[in-house]
Amino acid sequence: MSQHTAGLAIETAGLVKTFGETRAVDGVDLAVPTGTVYGVLGPNGAGKTTTVKMLATLLRPDGGQAHVFGHDVVREADAVRGLVSLTGQYASVDEDLTGAENLVLLARLLGHAKKPARERAAQLLEAFGLTDAAAKQVKHYSGGMRRRIDIAASILSTPDLLFLDEPTTGLDPRSRNQVWDIVRAVVAQGTTVLLTTQYLDEADQLASRIAVIDRGKVIAEGTKGELKASVGAGSVHLRLRDAEQRPQAAEVLSRVLDAQVQQDPDPVALTARLAAASGDTAAEQAARALSELARTGITVDNFSLGQPSLDEVFLALTGHDTQADDAVKNEVAA
Ligand SMILES: Nc1ncnc2c1ncn2[C@@H]1O[C@H](COP(=O)(O)OP(=O)(O)OP(=O)(O)O)[C@@H](O)[C@H]1O
Ligand SMILES: [Mg+2]
Repeated sequence: MSQHTAGLAIETAGLVKTFGETRAVDGVDLAVPTGTVYGVLGPNGAGKTTTVKMLATLLRPDGGQAHVFGHDVVREADAVRGLVSLTGQYASVDEDLTGAENLVLLARLLGHAKKPARERAAQLLEAFGLTDAAAKQVKHYSGGMRRRIDIAASILSTPDLLFLDEPTTGLDPRSRNQVWDIVRAVVAQGTTVLLTTQYLDEADQLASRIAVIDRGKVIAEGTKGELKASVGAGSVHLRLRDAEQRPQAAEVLSRVLDAQVQQDPDPVALTARLAAASGDTAAEQAARALSELARTGITVDNFSLGQPSLDEVFLALTGHDTQADDAVKNEVAA
């Protein structure tokens, strides 16, 4: 496949990268629509950084093909480099320079004259809430400030495609939210973003489509809704008036719905996970359950219908949760 599909910022087919015995990327197919945030979700060692590096022309693939805006990442690497920008997991600003010096230097390297370089740097420092830290050496920045200056450096000139490799790993919730706002602002300017993350909620917040990758392979791909739907229809959460009625309510739910019923720590609460295969929608199933509960004389105080979380999606797809590889590594290290 050397054809490029219109409207795609990234298109890969059977992309492979091996390191000795390790197939770090093992036949990855991606199609990233232009102008969107595309999430690549996977645990430690899944092959996220290796994939990004091949797409950004920093690593040469061992097999398969990859095109960025129609340009082959190997044969037309220069053209690709002109269109992309990368904020790496371990980023590249100079620790000994101040935030402002870094941005001005990089802007000069991109060909801006002195004054426009200073203006662009000041504008980004302001936008990223770093004006007060502008004159501080980057080595004295907090983790959150550091991520923000890294992203600022990567959008000095607006790239057509921005790679963000785990932009919020290790950040506190407030800094994560700031980075998310920045990502949304970058996309609003027309940049396509490929975001790798280990955080399901991050992909959920930002990405319009998500590829779940595990051990070098894409194990699921789609919109958030599609991924969730492939796993289960969702869950019904109930709170009863009377804790004593809970065993009976659980019995009714498992009889009426084809669902696993879980008794929550709260003594009046119950959760039923609905099966994906049922012909009825989640709402229809829930309505049936509620009317049967009422008929049995069980009073329901509160009721909600939830979509499955991406955590549940990952667990269902891989048979292990997103922490499993960490646990293995920690065992080895211990
Ligand atoms: N330069 C390298 N030499 C040897 N093995 C490598 C190299 N880079 C990556 N690997 C291996 O390839 C696999 C995928 O690594 P990669 O860094 O792409 O994962 P990742 O999804 O980015 O993980 P993380 O979430 O920890 O950043 C891992 O098994 C890793 O050990
Ligand atoms: Mg990585």
